[in-house]
Amino acid sequence: MDPSQVEISSMKNLTTENITENVLQINSLCSDARMKYVLERLVHHLHDFARETRLSSNEWMTGLNFLKEVGQISSDVRQEFILLSDVLGLSILVDSIDHPKPKGSTEGTVLGPFHTQEADEMTHGGLMSHDTQGEPLLVVCTLKDMSGNPIQDVKIDIWETDSSGHYDVQHPDRDGPDGRCIMRSDNTGAFWFKAITPVPYPIPHDGPVGQLLKKLHRHPYRPAHMHFMFEKSGYDHLVTALYIRNDPYETSDAVFGVKDSLVVDIGKASAEVARKYDVPEGHALLTYDFVLMTDDETSSLRDQKSREAMDKLGRKVKIVDGLPIPDLD
Ligand SMILES: [Fe+2]
Repeated sequence: MDPSQVEISSMKNLTTENITENVLQINSLCSDARMKYVLERLVHHLHDFARETRLSSNEWMTGLNFLKEVGQISSDVRQEFILLSDVLGLSILVDSIDHPKPKGSTEGTVLGPFHTQEADEMTHGGLMSHDTQGEPLLVVCTLKDMSGNPIQDVKIDIWETDSSGHYDVQHPDRDGPDGRCIMRSDNTGAFWFKAITPVPYPIPHDGPVGQLLKKLHRHPYRPAHMHFMFEKSGYDHLVTALYIRNDPYETSDAVFGVKDSLVVDIGKASAEVARKYDVPEGHALLTYDFVLMTDDETSSLRDQKSREAMDKLGRKVKIVDGLPIPDLD
């Protein structure tokens, strides 16, 4: 749309009642229909938030300064904005909307702030964690599609803390990546490796997000878990984690990531498993069968859920590239 052709009413003398309509009007010059819709809803809710809370200037400035501090403490290895999104429940909400999962597929969970791009590729049976203080753990997994067929050559990113509850990037004097690796599923969809039994840990709480939790009387702990991320062309990108059953924080995860289907027991390697994977009999063992959805399966479910949600809101939209935009036709 040619901006010069759009009639904009005067931007003067705006009031608490008509400011929203005027901001939406000037923003409507945007030619990207999806961006225009997202900004429209954002401005609408932001303004309603201010009107509903009767937000004071001091509170507004406190909020802006808080966001400034979140930015200032962030770096390549400290993702304070992801952490903020996590503790507000936004990360898990967005994952549930963008990656809906039917029964039978592996559910997703929060990415968290500690995934990096620097993990080394590891062969099956390799040692992911070199922390000698941790309890050695054998992890044996399979990867299948919704019909039960094995999926081979999937890129799998795996990461966990050391036995003190810190990721490698939290140690300023580290030599290189540890407690993380990249593997590929074999032609039976299997992958297996040696790690350490995950432990609970506090999210970084020495920054603005930690101060926020303290004011809210919330603890910063996450239950023991190991992160997994699966990528293969044609399949929906899956970010998930496995949580160890009976962790003291299983029902009060600071970032709301726990789902029953992702809670696992640590077992013991039988004589047969011990022989096959070259570990002592009785060695700690974690097994899990992951199920990936295809891109097509995910996008059709996502479209269906979007339509249902928009119907509930009484909003007339069409779905373009998997995302709703107003249907003006
Ligand atoms: Fe984590």
